[in-house]
Amino acid sequence: MKNNIFLIGTHWGDEGKGKVVDVLSAEATACVRFQGGHNAGHTLVINDKKFILHLIPSGILRDDVKSVIGNGVVVSIDALITEIKELENNGISLDNKLYISQNCHIILPTHIAIDQAREKKLGKKSIGTTGRGIGPCYEDKTSRKGIRLLDLKNEEIFLKKLENLMEYHNFILNSYFHEDVIDMKSVADELLTKYKLISKYLIDTDNFINDLCLKGGVVFEGAQGTMLDIDHGTFPYVTSSNTTLSGLVSGTGVNMSLVNYGLGITKAYSTRVGHGPFPSELKNDIGERIGEIGGEIGATTGRTRRCGWLDTKVLKKSIRLNNLSGIALTKIDVLDNFDEISICVDYGKIDYESFAVEDLKFIKLPGWKSSTVGITNYKDLPKNAKLYIETIEELVQIPIDIISTGPARDEIIQKTNIF
Ligand code: GDP
Ligand code: IMO
Ligand code: MG
Repeated sequence: MKNNIFLIGTHWGDEGKGKVVDVLSAEATACVRFQGGHNAGHTLVINDKKFILHLIPSGILRDDVKSVIGNGVVVSIDALITEIKELENNGISLDNKLYISQNCHIILPTHIAIDQAREKKLGKKSIGTTGRGIGPCYEDKTSRKGIRLLDLKNEEIFLKKLENLMEYHNFILNSYFHEDVIDMKSVADELLTKYKLISKYLIDTDNFINDLCLKGGVVFEGAQGTMLDIDHGTFPYVTSSNTTLSGLVSGTGVNMSLVNYGLGITKAYSTRVGHGPFPSELKNDIGERIGEIGGEIGATTGRTRRCGWLDTKVLKKSIRLNNLSGIALTKIDVLDNFDEISICVDYGKIDYESFAVEDLKFIKLPGWKSSTVGITNYKDLPKNAKLYIETIEELVQIPIDIISTGPARDEIIQKTNIF
């Protein structure tokens, strides 16, 4: 039986999870999202065509792969329908391929308005959220006020719940944030209409996912990254879900004894979008150059990503927290033309007011100054690129199984078959 695998971003998101999931999906039976929402932006490049997926798992472009949105994901029905339509317009059918947990909590327009109003009020101290309503939706889930997809099955119950919740939201919007309120009736009408378009995808995913795992070949696709985890990340500059392994368990109900391999997705350098501490950040022309070559513009919000050297202190933490077995190192090609490449290996205290970091320690390695773009065999990599990869392996003590050498599906070195 094939391994069931989970993929988790090891840093602050945008490590190239979508690309690696798409590659692995060639051999997968199913692909499952377990947390986050349309704050995620996972990019796939196939035959020069770019797809950015926000909610739907990145296995969706493969004909024989089932795509499951687990109960831990928060769903904007609007964003979901937009994504379904985009895929259908590209000739990708979702029937008998897409399955969504009826227990997913729904993101309402008021969640989005509160998210944005809160950020505005925080001003310079804002988190830099994606403004998609993610935090307020998870808050309502935890405080047991939230509305789930299954609530839309019964119009009367749904309207009662929506009325209660939106009354509360509108009070906050108006009295606390001094923002406009949102009309309950138009939200209700829209949701009830749009629900009809997605109800066919709803199931109880818990058993379904466990049954898929019994057959093997399931890929669990994390969103965001370890340092954006609500408990273990750079709080309060984090997202509102557990992006780490615990989120996989609660967000699917999978029996973890069935999940055999944890793959950390690590970018060859580090990036962060939004505010918050970033110890290895390069606020200089090297950082700018990495960002330009790497095209480091957010896939969801279009914001410029901050860039820095690879942080192996964070990587080690991520390996421990997520029980990772191996790593997929992405975007190595972005470092092709640097004379020298550093790795951030340690630091002391982080000041959460100024984001200053004490005692940063780096090791420096020679660059390889030649192209790795599109290389598919490890032995064909330049000597110093191998030195870089092997130095990381030695620092973190787990293998680098996969190396991504470009955005396209076939630009990949698969050293080990992790299935
Ligand atoms: P995700 O959120 O982790 O799926 O990552 P994003 O899609 O937000 O950002 C990764 C970006 O890097 C996307 O634009 C990808 O097309 C691109 N990408 C992925 N792997 C590689 C690679 O190996 N080399 C290069 N140059 N780009 C890559
Ligand atoms: P993928 O899956 C990078 C960041 C936001 C902000 C913080 C909180 O593509 O890697 P939120 O809207 O979640 O409340 O914002 O988290 N963030 C991401 N950064 N990649 C992502 O997803 C992100 N999703 C959220 O920028 O700093
Ligand atoms: Mg992304």
